Amino acid sequence: MSIQRTTSIPPIVEHPRITVIGSGYLGATHAICMASLGYEVLGVDVDEEKIAALSAGTVPFFEPGLPEQLVEALDSGRLSFTTDFDEAAAFGDVHFVCVGTPQAEGSHAADLSYVDAAFEALAARITRKALIVGKSTVPIGTAARLTALVAETSPLGDELEVAWNPEFLREGFAVQDTLHPDRLVFGVASEWAERQLSAAFRPILDDGTPLIVADLATAELVKVAANSFLATKISYINAMAEVCEATGADVNLLATALSHDDRIGGRFLKPGLGFGGGCLPKDIRAFTHRAEELGVGQAVAFLREVDDINNRRRLRIVDLIRELAGGDLAGKRIAALGAAFKPNSDDVRDAPALDVARMLYLEGAEVRVYDPEANANAHRAYPDLEYVDSMTEAVTGADVVALLTEWDEFRQADPAELGRLVASRRVVDGRHALDADAYRAAGWEFRALGRPAQPETVALVVDLKDRSEALSA
Ligand code: UDX
Repeated sequence: MSIQRTTSIPPIVEHPRITVIGSGYLGATHAICMASLGYEVLGVDVDEEKIAALSAGTVPFFEPGLPEQLVEALDSGRLSFTTDFDEAAAFGDVHFVCVGTPQAEGSHAADLSYVDAAFEALAARITRKALIVGKSTVPIGTAARLTALVAETSPLGDELEVAWNPEFLREGFAVQDTLHPDRLVFGVASEWAERQLSAAFRPILDDGTPLIVADLATAELVKVAANSFLATKISYINAMAEVCEATGADVNLLATALSHDDRIGGRFLKPGLGFGGGCLPKDIRAFTHRAEELGVGQAVAFLREVDDINNRRRLRIVDLIRELAGGDLAGKRIAALGAAFKPNSDDVRDAPALDVARMLYLEGAEVRVYDPEANANAHRAYPDLEYVDSMTEAVTGADVVALLTEWDEFRQADPAELGRLVASRRVVDGRHALDADAYRAAGWEFRALGRPAQPETVALVVDLKDRSEALSA
């Protein structure tokens, strides 16, 4: 779809009133941050409990910095919440749709029912020229389909325009990423839409944030392409970890050496238990599914391998834990440190940590899970596991300690103190987050994915260095 440039562009609203449909991680953060930037914002959700909590100043999930921003935004009088779509349609000049696109039941495709419902609900009610902006991650072609749906449903016909504005925020850094994004991407079908959307991001654009204006399909693709790239980078280093495991090489040293090449860089090159969460796993699957529908499945066939490598890390850490436990997990007490898919989040969607805890449990281990923030969500997802309220409780009497999510609390724990609590000093570091030397010095048997059981590599390097020094002498 190309951008139509016309001479008579309808007027835009310079300081638009904003609605945000969907009050999950993405929507609540977007609504709160837009209000903090000075816009009048109405947050909308069908979930009455969520809306009641947000209206009362409570963020219904863990996100550092967001609760303070919410209270400030509510106090400013610029932010309110509702479950009423009539109110939303009447309020907004720019409507952001931030509802979920989870993996569909029994398929790799994205479930678009929430997105469709939000667009339809708005289109049926909006009675003045406005812009509906999709922020949810969707398969390519969705925005074009929704444009047709809106034109059919709306009493305004194609006066009511659709744009796409993908969101790249990371959980744990949501406020920072929303207020200071590294780029903005606008997928628009008209110059009016571009101008209206720019007015909705004026303070961020005035900050010098790079803006990429694109067609709708490219804007949709940017998001899945970015997440696929990140997932591929993580699986690449984890594939190298598999090679390291077969050769006695050390993937940590390998990643460090690679990271000094500016063309490669060190970010998202951290080996370990791999990626999880509400985005990367389902996005690469939905992308593969959509590419196959479009007849270009071969172009992204490697993403299946990326997914497989990622899942094999979970199996491999179970192997390591079993090995340390003496070959059989039945009846062994395992401390599972972490349940969230990454630190500073209480999100357990497709969490590698929780998946590992579940597999250990299924092999008969007595698993005690402790996560500083995600215990409640984890309990809802897997009620059969035992959850405890502290790291001390988790490790006391453990036969093996498994570090599964790299929270600071676990990184900073003193190996000598922990050693006094466990039944056996055996630890598996699933996230390359612990100081192996400190643990070994405190008498622990220390194992990590992609690293030799004993630090032979370093010894060998020293040995070779000595020899080459001797040779050159
Ligand atoms: C991701 C994208 O980063 C973000 O831009 C997008 O908008 C949503 O999806 P998020 O899911 O919050 O964000 O988490 P991210 O920080 O990207 O981490 C994803 C997973 O990869 C985590 O499980 C993390 O532990 C893992 N990871 C990350 C690694 O295993 N190694 C790394 O080097 C980096």
